[in-house]
Amino acid sequence: MKVQNLEGVTFGSVVTDLDLEAMDDSEWGDLYELWIDRALLVFPSVFLSGERQDRFARRFGDLEFPHAAISNIGEDGKVHFEDGDEVVKSLRGNEGWHHDSTYMPMQAKGAVFTAEIVPQSGAATGWADMRAAYEELDSETRKRIANLNAYHSLYYSQQRSGYLPDNENEDGTYNMYGYHNMEVSLRPLVKFHPVTGQPNLLIGRHAHDIVGLDREESTQLLDDLNDWACQPPRTYHHEWTVGDAVVWDNRRLQHRGTPFDMKEPRRMWHTRIAGDPSSELAINHQPDGVRLDDAARPSTGS
Ligand SMILES: [Fe+2]
Repeated sequence: MKVQNLEGVTFGSVVTDLDLEAMDDSEWGDLYELWIDRALLVFPSVFLSGERQDRFARRFGDLEFPHAAISNIGEDGKVHFEDGDEVVKSLRGNEGWHHDSTYMPMQAKGAVFTAEIVPQSGAATGWADMRAAYEELDSETRKRIANLNAYHSLYYSQQRSGYLPDNENEDGTYNMYGYHNMEVSLRPLVKFHPVTGQPNLLIGRHAHDIVGLDREESTQLLDDLNDWACQPPRTYHHEWTVGDAVVWDNRRLQHRGTPFDMKEPRRMWHTRIAGDPSSELAINHQPDGVRLDDAARPSTGS
């Protein structure tokens, strides 16, 4: 295994000379340690099939879901590119910085992501290091956010950016992943990594309505934190080549898509690794966790 750390960035390594399918225990141990240390591993030109991608992801833990296409190519093979198109809206939403599945009762642990069809330009994927961001945060802000909790909701983030799906069910939900009708997940702004014990900012586009702050103050604080945190040297954008694979630690990194000409087809495959209930369950979804009064909870989508 050959490891080259990304230059000028607080995280990330490029790994070559390793057969992801045929690792022995010692190679796997080294790779896992590297993943915990660097949070993003890039494997150029490994051409994983969907099944092999899922098998590799399972090394890191149970799956939240197996390989799913992130693509502007519809099931009928048609390329979706028009503003207001359902597929386009969902992809555009991903262009805001976020941690995956913070809007679910259990935040994701990480993901394996691979490139099958890549447009000529654009469509890089970005990551941002929320551990480095916390480390660089001034002490006054650290104190201010130490005990704050925010709600995380896909209804909130997609409505704010204007990308909610068209067809609302009678109960106000949508037939797409993440639009659940369970309690809105409540999460701390500072998450301690379950393996390293290091503090990380847990923010992103799904976070809203910090408990104890009025809506305007909360939005301002979250926007300011996000804008500041997702800046060099804490960000890296990967320009994809067909066959590339990455695996990232969603407990430490945020990520985002970037724009491209949607008239060009693009197909990526995403396998999501499930969080650990002991560390990734929302505060208000824990069996014996803190529960807030109904009155203290904002409604979603407003
Ligand atoms: Fe994502």
